[in-house]
Amino acid sequence: MLLKQMAYYCNNKYLILGLTFLAFLFNLSCKEKESEQNVKEDELVMYQPSEMANLMNAFYVYNEALKEAINTGSELPEMPEYFDKIHTAKMTDKDGRTPIFQSFAPLYLDAQKAIKDTLDREILKQRYNATINLCISCHQTECVGPIPRIKKLIIN
Ligand code: HEC
Repeated sequence: MLLKQMAYYCNNKYLILGLTFLAFLFNLSCKEKESEQNVKEDELVMYQPSEMANLMNAFYVYNEALKEAINTGSELPEMPEYFDKIHTAKMTDKDGRTPIFQSFAPLYLDAQKAIKDTLDREILKQRYNATINLCISCHQTECVGPIPRIKKLIIN
């Protein structure tokens, strides 16, 4: 009886662990449209971030540095030119370049470029937060997983 219960408990535990792991991967890669059954185990082990996912992570790191610089009043880091690759980078979902994505991409880039040319801290902060809100706007339809993380970039 006890053994049976333990076996039941263990199975459940691994099932939950497995599902949590899957959910984690789906969030990372924005593939939540695909059903779990379609993903074979070896595909999960082979998970490679797309060119776009890597670019997005670079956006994140750059904006973290900008936030820090604005907060401490130090010199603002230059935006890397390769951010323009948002227009061409390969995406996890080959149909990911939707009309909504394409309308937000230039808005975001223009906002990101326009942050720097002021010395007024209040204006800097407003322009910076407007840029982060554009990240979030695009994510609201195109890739909801990272939104809680992106919100942490906002300067309060
Ligand atoms: C034009 C729409 C759009 C804008 C603007 C945008 N994103 Fe994304 N983001 C996406 C899409 C689509 C993906 C999924 C990319 C993929 O998996 O190929 C993504 C993925 C991500 C990821 C997850 C990357 C991973 O490892 O899977 C992070 C983090 C992220 N974006 C942060 C940001 C930040 C920070 C900004 C603004 C500085 C931003 N995004 C601006 C659409 C956008």
